[in-house]
Order: sequence, then C-alpha cells, then structure tokens
Amino acid sequence: MSKRNILITGGAGFIGSHVVRLFVTKYPDYQIYNYDKLTYAGNLENLKDIEDSKNYTFIKGDILDSDTLKDTFQKHAIDGVIHLAAESHVDRSLHNPDEFAMTNVIGTIRLLQVAKDAWKNNFEGKRFYHISTDEVYGSVEHGKFFTEETHIDPQSPYSSSKASSDHFVQAYHNSFKLPTVLSRCSNNYGPNHFPEKLIPLMIHNILQQKPLPVYGKGENVRDWLFVVDHARAIDTIFHKGNTGEVYNIGGNNEWKNIDLVHLLCSIMDKKLNRSEGESAKLITYVTDRPGHDLRYAIDASKLTNTLGWKPSVTFEVGLEKTVDWYLNNPDWLSHVTSGSYQNYYQHMYSNR
Ligand code: NAD
Ligand code: DAU
Repeated sequence: MSKRNILITGGAGFIGSHVVRLFVTKYPDYQIYNYDKLTYAGNLENLKDIEDSKNYTFIKGDILDSDTLKDTFQKHAIDGVIHLAAESHVDRSLHNPDEFAMTNVIGTIRLLQVAKDAWKNNFEGKRFYHISTDEVYGSVEHGKFFTEETHIDPQSPYSSSKASSDHFVQAYHNSFKLPTVLSRCSNNYGPNHFPEKLIPLMIHNILQQKPLPVYGKGENVRDWLFVVDHARAIDTIFHKGNTGEVYNIGGNNEWKNIDLVHLLCSIMDKKLNRSEGESAKLITYVTDRPGHDLRYAIDASKLTNTLGWKPSVTFEVGLEKTVDWYLNNPDWLSHVTSGSYQNYYQHMYSNR
C-alpha cells in the first residue's frame, strides 16, 4: 500500500468520524488529517478511540479559511481530499439559508481552488472526492429510483446548496481537469448521529419518555443505509472510482417515517422492559416541514456492478446495533444534549 496524505473535511461529524476511523485503522501507511471547524455538529468525542493513533492528526479549521487550507496543503503535502464538511440539517437550512450557502457552496469552492493551486496543475496521483446527497435529485414518485442521470431538482435550501456545490465540483473537473469524483448517498443512520435527525431524536425522546414529533402524516419515505456501509462505499470510490464520475450510494431499504418510528418504539420497549405499545403512545403528529420531499429512493447499481460494493449490514441488524450504541453510551448523549461535548477540544488539545 503506497503512502498518502489525505485531508478529510468534516471528520468530527457523524459520517466523517466513521470515515476517519475506517481510514486510520485500515491504512496505517496513510496520514489522515481531519480538518474540522467544530460547529455544533462536530464532536471530537466521536473519535476518542483513535485520537492517539500515529497516522491521525486533528486540525481545527474552517473550509472558508483559504489561508489555513493552503498552509495545511503545503505543510502536509496533501494528495487526496475527502470533503464531507457541510451544514447538513434540512430544518436548520429553512431558518438560516445564508450559512448553508456560505459553508456548502463557498466553502467547497475555496477548497477546490486551494487544491487546484496547491497541486499546480500536476494532478498525477491526486484525487478530490466530494461527498454529496440524494436530496439534490428532489423527490421521486413511487416505483421509480434516482440514477446518476436523474435531473438535479433540489427543493430545500440545504439540498440547493449541496446541488450547487456538486456543480462547482463538476466545473473544476470540466474546466481545469481537477481529478474529482463525487457520490450521492441516501439517509444514513448509526452511532454518533446528532439527535436532531429523525432516528437519534426518536431514540433520545423514547428514552426520556418525551413526545415523538412526526412531521405531517408520517408518510414520507426515506432509504436508510448504515453509516459504516457509507464509509465502506467512500473507501471503495476513493480508491477505485473513475475520475470525473458520479456514484449513487443507497441501501435499497425504504421506510415510511411512521413505520420506522413504530419499529423503533417496539425495539426499545423490549430493550427497556416496557410493555409493548407503551412508547408508541408518545407519537405526536406535528406541522409538516415546508417543502417536505415525499420520497427518496436510490438506484446504486452502478456502484455495485462496476466497483463491487454492497451493504454489509441488514436494516434489522444495523438498527439494533444503533439502539444498543445509544443505550450503552449515555454519556455521549448527555454531553451532546447538554452541550458539554463542545469543551472536549479545549480539554484534549489545549496542551498539544
Ligand atoms: P454533520 O452535520 O454530522 O457533520 C458536519 C461536520 O462538518 C461537522 O463536524 C462540522 O463541524 C463540520 N463543518 C461544518 N462547517 C464547517 C466548516 N465551515 N469548515 C470545516 N468544518 C465544518 O454531517 P453528516 O451527517 O456527517 O454529513 C456529512 C456529509 O455527508 C455532508 O456533506 C452531507 O451533506 C453528506 N450526506 C449526509 C447524509 C446523512 O444522512 N447524514 C447522507 C448523504 C450525504
Ligand atoms: O437523504 C440524505 C439526507 O438525509 C442528508 O443529505 C441530510 O444531511 C440528512 O439530514 C438527511 O435528510 P432528511 O431530511 O431526510 O433527514 P431527517 O432525519 O431530518 O428527516 C428524516 C425524515 O423524518 C424526513 O422525512 C423528516 C422526518 N422527521 C424528521 C425529524 C427530525 C420527522 O418526522 N420528525 C422529526 O423530528
């Protein structure tokens, strides 16, 4: 295995932390630089188990800060980028679209430009991998699936900012031959998921016996993939994906929100020794999300057929593992809900 110096942006977030862990443990000859601003969504406690690894370095930085990015590329001779840093929550984007445009669009452009300049048009052995989302395709009617050729039709400020960043990535490939690759994944779930998103929010509220807010009629459909399988797909595409191409990633695992919430209630009733149906009584229908996409469903056959990736974990097993992780890590959940996880950086890194 050759040596590489890889910059992973957003590595302290939910998916990023699983990608960092996979690369640090699977590729001891790679140096992994986790570049993260530590917004509310960045949590270094996600990486406690690998933070002392020799091939891992954390850099507190903003993707909007071109100077720090340039220093990082120069100092560490970065030859690969896996770009996950983003504002990621649709509901927040409805209240604060500017922040999404700044981080997701302008931040991505700055990172592209710094990579292009640092690599001085010598792109041999270089790779810029942009992590995107199936939400850029908008909603898909029942019986149909998003392919890589599906028209881009984002509906929320979040998905619009991601779609725009995708276009800039493609533009840097088309205009400057930057060796990019891009993937669009469906909804992830698993350990370390911030409890503002559906599954961890429901787990948290079931534990606390608080109302379970289901938007609208709960009939929206999402295609769920275990986060470790997304990280595995990112590994595959980073190493084997064709330059300039797009790959869809998905679990072929569609669930209506209301059915998923009932399933979680039932799993947790058993684990918490509550009587069957007790948690479901907490389900509360609330006002729908504005512009709420009805259905996402990914066709991941290009990735499966050409690069050989497929999910390793069934939904049954993945969901069980996820619930168990939250039950076994009450400190993580309480640090996140109290906000005290934001002191971890100060505590761990002030003397380094
Ligand atoms: P997340 O919100 O959990 O983490 C985002 C990370 O980016 C955080 O660590 C945060 O501190 C960091 N960050 C934010 N702004 C930054 C900036 N300006 N500079 C540096 N770091 C910054 O997000 P996630 O759910 O892990 O998603 C990661 C990526 O995957 C995003 O690009 C998202 O669009 C994409 N994605 C997510 C899903 C999903 O289901 N969560 C599915 C498909 C694609
Ligand atoms: O499809 C990939 C996308 O999945 C990613 O790009 C996003 O970063 C990620 O946040 C996720 O977006 P969603 O909007 O699909 O995820 P969220 O967990 O916010 O919502 C999932 C579904 O559950 C959606 O239909 C809205 C609904 N929902 C959500 C919350 C938080 C509820 O009914 N109640 C809730 O409290």
